[in-house]
Amino acid sequence: MAIAIALILLAFGSVLFHFLSPWYFTPIASNWSTIDNTISITFWVTGIVFVAISVFTAWAVLRYRHRPGARASYQPENKKLEVWLLVVTAGGVAAMLAPGLVVWADIVHPPADAQVVEAVAQQWSWAYRLPGKDGKLGKVDSRFVNDDNPFGMNPADTNGSDDVLLVGPEIHVPLGQPVKLLLRSKDVLHDFAVAQLRVKMDLVPGLVTYTWFTPTRTGSFDLLCEELCGIGHFAMRGRIVVDEPAAYQEWLARQPTFAQIQARAHGDVVAGKTAYALCSACHGPGGEGNVAMNAPKLSGQGGWYLERQLRQFKQGTRGVHDKDTFGKVMAPMAATLPDEAAIANVVAYIASLPDTAASPTIKGDVDRGRQRYATCAACHGGEGRGIAATHAPRLKGMSDWYLARQLKNFRDGVRGAHPQDLYGAQMALVAGMLADDAAIGDVLAYINVPAR
Ligand code: CUA
Repeated sequence: MAIAIALILLAFGSVLFHFLSPWYFTPIASNWSTIDNTISITFWVTGIVFVAISVFTAWAVLRYRHRPGARASYQPENKKLEVWLLVVTAGGVAAMLAPGLVVWADIVHPPADAQVVEAVAQQWSWAYRLPGKDGKLGKVDSRFVNDDNPFGMNPADTNGSDDVLLVGPEIHVPLGQPVKLLLRSKDVLHDFAVAQLRVKMDLVPGLVTYTWFTPTRTGSFDLLCEELCGIGHFAMRGRIVVDEPAAYQEWLARQPTFAQIQARAHGDVVAGKTAYALCSACHGPGGEGNVAMNAPKLSGQGGWYLERQLRQFKQGTRGVHDKDTFGKVMAPMAATLPDEAAIANVVAYIASLPDTAASPTIKGDVDRGRQRYATCAACHGGEGRGIAATHAPRLKGMSDWYLARQLKNFRDGVRGAHPQDLYGAQMALVAGMLADDAAIGDVLAYINVPAR
């Protein structure tokens, strides 16, 4: 009796939980309501079968419970029962699978007028490419991939010169316009998944996979990689912003084409030297850093990283948090650089400065630090020299007291919290694994070990 009641409670409790729980589909933001319907049908079929079998089992437990002297009758064949079971099971399975086939046929046939968006995945970040006015994407090949050409654009293919290239986790798309996603990976399997858009498709190295959607409401939606792709998988996130068409056009006009990126002038060292006079007051004439001024070493840091940080300070995506005391000092300094050329100039001058390793100031357990650093090495490199392709700056030989402060800032939500600081947000996720200040000290002590 107790078992029968438990079975019934379990069945009806599960059904109740399904209807009352707050964990269900996120509100849909695309045309794919048919996907939701398909899943609902599957829930109904499996739900009915689950309740029916539970109730039948409870009934059988009661009806055929042990009675002294009673014997079971043996019926190995029962044509009538088998026909019934066969028909009902076949009907249930068909009801679950057939709607999926119809929806799948839709998924593999993008509308002819869909706007093409290419998403490129790598461990552990996203980049996007849009065909320019000619509507054609230029040819790409992995042998062209380098730090200056992360998409592997073939410079000889003129179709590519007006391609819009977006290195970064965020892409905008216009409301109501079908989007055809072309998906490729530079290294391992990744997966492009946006819950609200009901989009989910694997990226396979060596192939271009595709899928499509039509956004039905504006908003900002998280893109998650949903294929385990290595140590940084959990932090491989992006963002799809759905704009009104006019706002989208405005955004699009601000994005650079391949030709514009190629034509960007390299920084002018002489002009940069003049601008650097202001920086040298805190960072030192040789960019060596000054702990008394809370100004980190700059010389030897990757130019791409310095440019990105200067831009962020200038745009107000870094150095604006209330508790970021020293970032708030830097922000107005960055604002004195009027444009992209000024940023490039000052960074070019910093690149010309002698690179002398900063003296270590942080102590910790090197062995424990080595173990923890394995995670950092995935992006910053085994030696901590920084890797432009993974957007990870150099750590080795830089100001360790500054790195300690930034790790704490990332961990405590002081840095990487601004919605537009997308790489900072990624680092904040990773910094969360350093539970206390001792752990931070251990990692820095390991980075400080001279030669290995
Ligand atoms: Cu890429 Cu998980």
